[in-house]
Amino acid sequence: MLKARLAVLVSGGGTNLQALIDAAAKGEITSAEIDLVISSKEGVFALERAQKAGIPSLVIAKKSCASQEAFEEKIQAALEDNRIDFIVLAGFMSILSENFVAKWPKRIINIHPSLIPAFCGEGYYGLRVHEAALEKGVKITGATVHFVNEIPDGGEIILQKSVTIRKNDTAETLQRRVMEQAEWKLLPRATQLVAKRILKEGKACDK
Ligand code: GRF
Repeated sequence: MLKARLAVLVSGGGTNLQALIDAAAKGEITSAEIDLVISSKEGVFALERAQKAGIPSLVIAKKSCASQEAFEEKIQAALEDNRIDFIVLAGFMSILSENFVAKWPKRIINIHPSLIPAFCGEGYYGLRVHEAALEKGVKITGATVHFVNEIPDGGEIILQKSVTIRKNDTAETLQRRVMEQAEWKLLPRATQLVAKRILKEGKACDK
């Protein structure tokens, strides 16, 4: 069966990458295959997860690139070399430039750990998102999968799932529950949805 070729971009622990690997193994992602993992940091656990699953991976360390442009050129070259059709940002801790995202319209998706438009945009990443939700006293938070455009966390929303905040939550307990109840479920579903659409449109390499 024809599958869209997917690259997953990571910078950390890679639990969302793992959710994609597991969903593919369970037959829940049938329209895409993970062909490449790119990490912006060396030595992160996401790279071990890729290796264990037999997925080719490479490190393009932002630190070692002279500029954002040089960093993105390397990523673009790796994506082209691997004939990638679409990209999932799964805990990728770098904002991609307008120039880069313009090359991949509706072909980059991101998982964000809040119900966008709450607690999103520049500066809202990692634990900070959950701290902000607790500081505000919201009773419900969640996660969002969205397309990536030139506005940080501003692209079209694909899927959202809510998570109830508990009285004794800390940013850490909330982060974990948002992952378990929302992120790890939403990201595979959104990936399958987008992959199906891409197969209908025609893969990049067919054009
Ligand atoms: C997740 O909370 C994701 O929503 C955010 O960064 C975290 C990454 O976790 N963008 P992991 O690397 O997938 O474990």
